[in-house]
Amino acid sequence: MTTLADKNVLLGVTGGIAAYKTPELVRRLRDAGASVRVVMTPGAQAFISPLTLQAVSGHRVHADLLDAEAEAGMGHIELARWADELVIAPATAHAIARLAHGFADDLLATLVLATEARIWVAPAMNRVMWASRPVLDNCQRLQTLGMRLLGPASGSQACGEVGEGRMLEPDEIVAALGDHPRPFLGHRFVVTAGPTHEALDPVRFLGNRSSGRMGFAVAEALAAAGADVDLVAGPVNLTTPPGVTRCDVLTARDMHREVMARIEGATGFIGVAAVADYRPDSVAEHKIKKSEGELALRLVPNPDILADVARHSARPALVMGFAAETRDLANAARDKLARKQLDLIAANLVGEGLAFDCADNALEVFSATGHWSLPEQPKAPLARALVEIMVDCMASKGG
Ligand code: PMT
Repeated sequence: MTTLADKNVLLGVTGGIAAYKTPELVRRLRDAGASVRVVMTPGAQAFISPLTLQAVSGHRVHADLLDAEAEAGMGHIELARWADELVIAPATAHAIARLAHGFADDLLATLVLATEARIWVAPAMNRVMWASRPVLDNCQRLQTLGMRLLGPASGSQACGEVGEGRMLEPDEIVAALGDHPRPFLGHRFVVTAGPTHEALDPVRFLGNRSSGRMGFAVAEALAAAGADVDLVAGPVNLTTPPGVTRCDVLTARDMHREVMARIEGATGFIGVAAVADYRPDSVAEHKIKKSEGELALRLVPNPDILADVARHSARPALVMGFAAETRDLANAARDKLARKQLDLIAANLVGEGLAFDCADNALEVFSATGHWSLPEQPKAPLARALVEIMVDCMASKGG
């Protein structure tokens, strides 16, 4: 039997006839061990009463964005944080269009933007609507945003027609949530995250604004995909994601040493860290005193961890770098991909309010032959979308 023990599932119900199946879906989710809370759109309430879903879930149903009573209890941000899984079932064509374009004018759409939970979308609509270009394009966009589609199924429809567009049965939805694929089970990945600090004297260093969030999100997404993950982290203030083994380092040379010690036998190396290219050529033994006039620093190059991994005799099957650029993103990324002999590179524009130390990010990912655009979104779903690209890349190598 599928187990969702200890999982918090937020069910978003939108206004389609298949809403009549949601009390059964709530019951099945609870039978599988999940705690369930329900959010309804105004349209959903035309098909099923909030009271019914309150009775089966055991919790008050949330419906309004501007609900003083709800905000005094579990407000929308708390609800977004509470959820491990957000399941939108049924998802109408209208709801899908709104999600694809980032609307935030009702509670459910706002939660989708505010949550880092995995988001599942179970479309339900007439077969001709399902086959229409706008709906298919919007569904594709949901997938690039890291959301997972559940179905739809094929069969007889409420409108009397027969074809694709039915919502999956509650049992099938519960099974999909419980059986999420672990494509990297049995594989080990080494991931770097955060900045490095290059000492000038006992109290000063050269560093950068990396918070480590992107690298930690990648480590967490890989662990969720079944991988054993060794995370070599620069100085950051983050908790270790579940299932990840962490090694803390300070300098680029420490990071290089710890990565190289772990690379043998690894399937993949993902270099997300913002490693200092240069370090001061010497570290003053005592605090450098202020003196009149200028102070010149002499810098020497640090080892390039990513390039060394890529040309290592025990090179992992998948070597992926990041590229932080302030301009000419695609050309600079393609150049690094070729120069450092990488399988994949994820490029982000950086600068004021971009990528470094931000909750959200956008990435352009390149391989020798492929290109994926991952639009701006929180780093957790972005990392999950990256892992899907890694899975495809490994599959195309026959790994
Ligand atoms: O940590 P966050 O606040 O979440 O921000 C995330 C991020 C912006 C740091 C991240 O998304 C990112 O872009 N990381 C790479 C930053 C960087 O150093 O880029 P680069 O273009 O200078 O380096 C290219 C690649 O070479 C990177 O994979 C880097 O890890 C690697 N490198 C660089 C220098 C060096 N000496 N050794 C390396 O391995």
